[in-house]
Amino acid sequence: MTTTAQRASAAEAPPFSPYQKSVADYWNREKNPVNLRLGEVDGFYHHHYGIGDVDWSVLEGPEENRDERIIAELHRLECAQADFLADHLGAVAPDDRVLDSGCGRGGGSLVANKRFGCHVDGISISETQVAFANAQAKKRGVDDKVRFHLKNMLDTGFETGSFRAIWNNESTMYVDLSMLFAEYARLLEGSGRYVTITGCYNDTYGLPSREVSTINAHYICDIHPRSTYFKEMANNRLVPISVVDLTAATIPYWELRAKSSLATGIEDAFLTAYKNGSFQYLLIAADRI
Ligand SMILES: C[S@@+](CC[C@H](N)C(=O)[O-])C[C@H]1O[C@@H](n2cnc3c(N)ncnc32)[C@H](O)[C@@H]1O
Repeated sequence: MTTTAQRASAAEAPPFSPYQKSVADYWNREKNPVNLRLGEVDGFYHHHYGIGDVDWSVLEGPEENRDERIIAELHRLECAQADFLADHLGAVAPDDRVLDSGCGRGGGSLVANKRFGCHVDGISISETQVAFANAQAKKRGVDDKVRFHLKNMLDTGFETGSFRAIWNNESTMYVDLSMLFAEYARLLEGSGRYVTITGCYNDTYGLPSREVSTINAHYICDIHPRSTYFKEMANNRLVPISVVDLTAATIPYWELRAKSSLATGIEDAFLTAYKNGSFQYLLIAADRI
């Protein structure tokens, strides 16, 4: 027999599909040094890639601290990517509320709060990440304004029109974009800003290349074609204001990572896909009309 308490708890549990449970399981178990050791540099834990020129001198010098030099450099490039995303969020006031959708261990939320002093809600389908990120916010003394929740980005339960800005940093490849952007059209206030940084496959190449399929299998995701972003934004009241092709800017990061002890084995697939033109790394910013 189902008790009232069990019914209440089932009602609070986010509705996750079997696929989403498998993605949650991946992120709940994930402890890659490339994610953890970089975050330990300054407490900003990012689970996305980097952009910008590499300082190749990190490969020189004493062998005993080679790893530390490379970690600091990869982290610098990942922080540059997070800053570049925040540059596109538009004007955000301290009273505004923003949503970090697919927040990982919460680094991007802390970046936005530090820059704008705003309220941030971060959401992930990984309980482990949500607990980790809440502990980081507390450690930094910003837990009054930065909060992390176990939620499905397709069905957040947040109030309509409650966010000034929403972003996805490398997390749109886990969801259907027509459902995602319909939820954002609901959540964003009038003229609110949406930003994504994402890998997408290049329509001019055709269908997903072998390397793009390898990346999909590695991360249990479904990389969308570039065209789908614009089609689904247009269908959901999101009008692009900036599109930046970051493909060339991310290649040096991958080249350095491939030479490091933190390589996870997926580096060659990314480098080949970027270089053969089948895969692109894009920032898209859009206004909600
Ligand atoms: C590659 S990580 C990116 C993390 C973070 N945005 C960053 O830049 O560090 C992908 C994230 O998407 C989250 N995710 C995947 N599907 C999701 C869903 N349906 N709802 C909420 N979060 C989801 C995962 O739990 C993970 O935190």
